[in-house]
Amino acid sequence: YGDASQKVDYVFKVVLIGDSAVGKSQILSRFARNEFTLDSKATIGVEFQTRTMVIQHKTVKAQIWDTAGQERYRAVTSAYYRGAVGAMLVYDITKRQTFDHIPRWLEELRGHADKNIVIILIGNKSDLEDQRAVPTEDAKEFAQQEGLFFLETSALQATNVEEAFLTVLTEIF
Ligand code: GTP
Ligand code: MG
Repeated sequence: YGDASQKVDYVFKVVLIGDSAVGKSQILSRFARNEFTLDSKATIGVEFQTRTMVIQHKTVKAQIWDTAGQERYRAVTSAYYRGAVGAMLVYDITKRQTFDHIPRWLEELRGHADKNIVIILIGNKSDLEDQRAVPTEDAKEFAQQEGLFFLETSALQATNVEEAFLTVLTEIF
């Protein structure tokens, strides 16, 4: 999980966005520290964590920014998006509303971020299949229309979390 003594070839900033409680902070925690908490608290303001990994023989330091989904806890948006080369747009597969809000998040992202930013749509909590409210096909179709990558993840079971970050980081190259 990252060796601090390594020489870093690239630093890539990636931002996480989406409604409150979809699991953004737990996706980050799984990726950066391989940890998961069931009773995680809502994020206030902005936090970030890093993980250094080797991709195509280069040492890449991924700097992942996480902010509050709740409007009242959000920090200034332009500063959050500044310099970001990747974005993860997260919804909860058990909460239809969080998927219905994705176009709004995408609009905010496109309004503030670099036009070449690499975006992945993420349907999190895939472990809760029995409570699914968003069919995989709906999300896949939306992602295709908008030119986004797409994966369903489970931060709890560590399913596809690594793959989601690798998809973005590799594409940035
Ligand atoms: P804000 O900080 O308010 O924007 O929310 P968030 O998107 O960061 O959500 P957070 O990561 O805090 O997770 C919210 C709740 O969902 C917590 O109780 C997590 O434990 C739970 N959770 C996150 N990911 C998963 C998952 O993959 N599966 C299940 N079953 N629960 C998850
Ligand atoms: Mg959070």
